[in-house]
Amino acid sequence: MAATLNLEQIVDQTLGEAEYKLFINGEWQAANNGKTFAVDNPATGDILRYVPDAGADETRAAIDAAAAALPIWAAMPAITRSDLMRKVAALMLERRERLATIMTLEQGKPISEARGEIAYAASFLTWFAGEAERVYGEMIPASVPNKRLWLLRQPVGVAVMITPWNFPTAMLTRKLGPALAAGCTCVCKPAEQTPLSALELGKLFIEAGFPPGVVNIVTTSNPIPFSDTVFADERVRKISFTGSTEVGQMLIAKSAATVKRMSMELGGNAPFIVFDDADLGAAVKGAVASKFRNAGQTCVCANRIFVQRGVYDQFAEAFTAEVGKMKVGNGLAPDVSVGPLIDQPARVKVERHISDATAHGAAVALGGQAIAQMGNFWQPTVLTGASALMLVAREETFGPVAPLIPFDSEDEVIATANDTQYGLAAYYYTRDFSRVIRVAERLEYGIIGANDGLPSTAQAPFGGFKHSGLGREGGSVGIHEYLEVKYVSLGI
Ligand code: SIN
Repeated sequence: MAATLNLEQIVDQTLGEAEYKLFINGEWQAANNGKTFAVDNPATGDILRYVPDAGADETRAAIDAAAAALPIWAAMPAITRSDLMRKVAALMLERRERLATIMTLEQGKPISEARGEIAYAASFLTWFAGEAERVYGEMIPASVPNKRLWLLRQPVGVAVMITPWNFPTAMLTRKLGPALAAGCTCVCKPAEQTPLSALELGKLFIEAGFPPGVVNIVTTSNPIPFSDTVFADERVRKISFTGSTEVGQMLIAKSAATVKRMSMELGGNAPFIVFDDADLGAAVKGAVASKFRNAGQTCVCANRIFVQRGVYDQFAEAFTAEVGKMKVGNGLAPDVSVGPLIDQPARVKVERHISDATAHGAAVALGGQAIAQMGNFWQPTVLTGASALMLVAREETFGPVAPLIPFDSEDEVIATANDTQYGLAAYYYTRDFSRVIRVAERLEYGIIGANDGLPSTAQAPFGGFKHSGLGREGGSVGIHEYLEVKYVSLGI
């Protein structure tokens, strides 16, 4: 465990007298009935702050504000919208330490990762600020002389963002960036575990000079009245959700009645393949970074580590040694590399996956236990002799558990890697150039790290095949999720 921290002092200094309210139409307001809910620190279980517990009425007020702001924001020259977005990104970087500390307090991730997330989050605003100026139309050659065919792109309208707790700021800006760049106005609902980061971001939108109603933030402990309201409202034309496949499926079904555009970033079950011709040092580093970032609580993290039999023992030894150096503890301590799991259900799932694996013959090479007297902290765990049939390889663990699964041939590992309903991210390490190309083409995944354990970046599309989602965020394709295509036939 890391050095003792004066947590009370950190909380007081960082959050001060801050009172968190709903951000609607450029103003801060309490829930109509005054109800609030508590936001906890997952490292200690202490209550950090209370935030308003909004219901259907406040959600409708946020949609009203976004709908009223839409014509103003959509008509604003792209360069003016870009300037405002860049201002928010600059403010985020200026306030990085405070924002990162708040993120670690409510989410638990190590402070170095939280700082990294703030920069990553700001990069979505900066990158899409550039894209705002490149929303081009087209003139299509007609087949008759007295016509011109004109294609233009316009914002889809009011967009709703439902974001997860694992990346409280970056998942919000990955949606807000393209939406704002396209000219949409937004209603955001952050996860109930991590609303403070979102509300802190709201303050920066005011400071940057955004018109009221362009960005609205509604916090609630009960997502049902929020989602019933937004799905029933015809003015909401777009929903972007990041979360579990089960919830995503329910939302897709709900969208049918009002035929909304949907973007879904759902679950993953990433294979991480180490071929026997890999640079093993690089593969170990890549696997540790992919698996243990945010204590394994990322949709793209390596969930199944396949290692070719010829290098299995050597990889297992080097990987276990590297994981053994990781320090678990309160993310605010500077030397900590693995923070707590978000809550008790997360811990129960990790426990279930490990006991299923050991019951079916896997061995615990490292960790395997909760850390006594430390709430939701779990030892970084390495399982050897795992198989693709174990729960730990069939379900997304979302925790710091690395099952190492031996394989013999390329064909076999590709077939096993693709044998899942998920298709978000996949990784492989090899020095064979032909194999680099071949494997990339054969893996049924939306994001591939070829000799790269951390492929996410604002410039590249992020999204999955199969049950991992619909559409893409990030990259030049990301903005199209927020644009309608209009075709005008011009008779001349
Ligand atoms: C996620 O896994 O939820 C997002 C991670 C990323 O953007 O890299």
